[in-house]
Amino acid sequence: MTTHAEPATEPPVSAAEDNDDETTTDPGWFHKAVVYQIYPRSFADSDGDGIGDLPGIISKLDYLQKLGVDVVWLSPIYTSPQDDNGYDISNYRDVDPIFGSLADLQQLTDGLHARGMKLVMDLVVNHTSDEHPWFIESRSSKDNPKRDWYWWRPPRQSPVGGGGAEPNNWGSAFSGPAWEFDQATGEYYLHLFSRKQPDLNWENPEVRAAVYDMMNWWLDRGVDGFRMDVINFISKDTSLPDGPKAEGMLFGDGSPHFMSGPRIHEFLHEMHLEVFAGRDKPLLTVGEMPGVTVEDAVLFTDPARREVDMVFQFEHVALDQEDGNKWRPRKLRLTDLKQSLGRWQEALAGRGWNSLYWGNHDQARAVSRFGDDGQYRELSAKMLAGVLHLHRGTPYVYQGEELGMTNMSFGAISDYRDIEVLNHHREATTHLGHTDAEVLAALAPLNRDNARTPVQWDATRHGGFTTGAPWIAVNPNTSHINAAEQEDNPDSVFSFYRQVIALRHAEPVVAEGDFSMLLPDDEHVYAFRRSLPGSAAGAAAGVAAAPGVQLLVLGNFSGEDRTVELDGGGWGDAEAGADEPELGHYPAELILGNYPSDGAGTHAEITLRPWELKVFRRQHNN
Ligand code: GLC
Repeated sequence: MTTHAEPATEPPVSAAEDNDDETTTDPGWFHKAVVYQIYPRSFADSDGDGIGDLPGIISKLDYLQKLGVDVVWLSPIYTSPQDDNGYDISNYRDVDPIFGSLADLQQLTDGLHARGMKLVMDLVVNHTSDEHPWFIESRSSKDNPKRDWYWWRPPRQSPVGGGGAEPNNWGSAFSGPAWEFDQATGEYYLHLFSRKQPDLNWENPEVRAAVYDMMNWWLDRGVDGFRMDVINFISKDTSLPDGPKAEGMLFGDGSPHFMSGPRIHEFLHEMHLEVFAGRDKPLLTVGEMPGVTVEDAVLFTDPARREVDMVFQFEHVALDQEDGNKWRPRKLRLTDLKQSLGRWQEALAGRGWNSLYWGNHDQARAVSRFGDDGQYRELSAKMLAGVLHLHRGTPYVYQGEELGMTNMSFGAISDYRDIEVLNHHREATTHLGHTDAEVLAALAPLNRDNARTPVQWDATRHGGFTTGAPWIAVNPNTSHINAAEQEDNPDSVFSFYRQVIALRHAEPVVAEGDFSMLLPDDEHVYAFRRSLPGSAAGAAAGVAAAPGVQLLVLGNFSGEDRTVELDGGGWGDAEAGADEPELGHYPAELILGNYPSDGAGTHAEITLRPWELKVFRRQHNN
């Protein structure tokens, strides 16, 4: 195994140094790709046990192809006790029987490939299940060869009283301490998530070799890449110091000691060399990285450094909460959102690559969170799609988002299934003195079960998701929000997603153009320009010279009419004077919008109707 210990800020290997591991394919193929995330448990159930499964997914492949996505990311389907819905894996090389078999997975892979789509697997290697044979061995005795595969520490003497206590003050992401005491050997093990998700010790080269071996096994079976779960948590400060403890909190925050830790760049580069280098087909790697800074993201995604293709950052999904605490929701300010996403666009331009998302299985539903899931549900869902997908980066569509699915209105705590919610409710009502009603109210907007209600296929009982009893309730609004109604309706949210996805495939300016944020101080209108100079447009079209192309994207994030004035019509050049702003010397065309008529589009001022999206395109000769 190769190991590198270069300082984090230096490229581990220069591009010139070893080009024998260059893939023979277009390294930027994913710039024009759109990824669709499937959370298998909630997608489609084929056998009536109430839980989605692989044959269910296979039955929907034509639907995915019709939508036009290029890649499917599958949340974990591996053998698992399902403590965290599969993010606790007990066998990395098999499929859990609730989802099907390896043969089903092969059929799914082949079915996707036959339709020109790729399959990206979830890779959960910050931790395993406590039922994984590695952990069972590790916990069996202090001198087991796998003892050091996990983070075991003796109790620390508590300052008063002398009794043993957790080795440090870290809290787990799912409430309670991040340590669990093991009677048999008298030590604690670290679990940043649930006690059934012990953290692997990546300091141990055997652990890394075992993970790379498993990843190679999957790639050899034909999968096309990995979405890497909390991958910036794998390198920890090995002294495991206490973290800061905020007032009113029961535990310290260990994240400064494990988020993008000391050896993270080294580990990811090593993974690249051991797993991805030299493979001659287009693969996709995306690292889920809570707390990642934009500066670090540049290092993670700079292609010359060979770490990952892109990261999921969390900044824009923390703006609607106090102190990054999802149980303390607050109203989002559009200016904060623009400031954040704009900064990421700018910082990664020409150096790294963005992933773009409004939602996933850990986040609230996009239209409920960023749009209006009442009167303007369809308009706002379409506007959100246009605004997100026309940024620079690879967009991700979370299952049901393409239908404008909404948050769920859960009743009692017994309606919830997510371990994060259940543990928080228990802790807040027993240790923090909150009432059940207070906790339920705080949970409602941002809890993860909002996104985990089953996909709404039709208006029948249980939304066509299952013939049995669903593992979590189907949203009753399946009566009018469902795929059957939308698939062939040209005005549906689904059809709009098709258009937006097709636009990325057809227009090189969407995949490769520069990004400029406009109107940064406007509290209601999100506006930006994309520009691809003639030389780049020519290269994209395989010809020497082509006109430059620009897009102007305007999205109204409010339920009222909003009028905006854009300097030079927003096109960023002198020719387009104030009298003829959107035209200048070069006519602009409205190429995408979410209202049936194009409304006001040829005046110095542009008025946007509630939640309106307008996308203008022009060509120019400079
Ligand atoms: C990631 C997953 C989330 C899971 C956690 C622990 O954040 O997306 O669903 O609970 O990691 O694996």
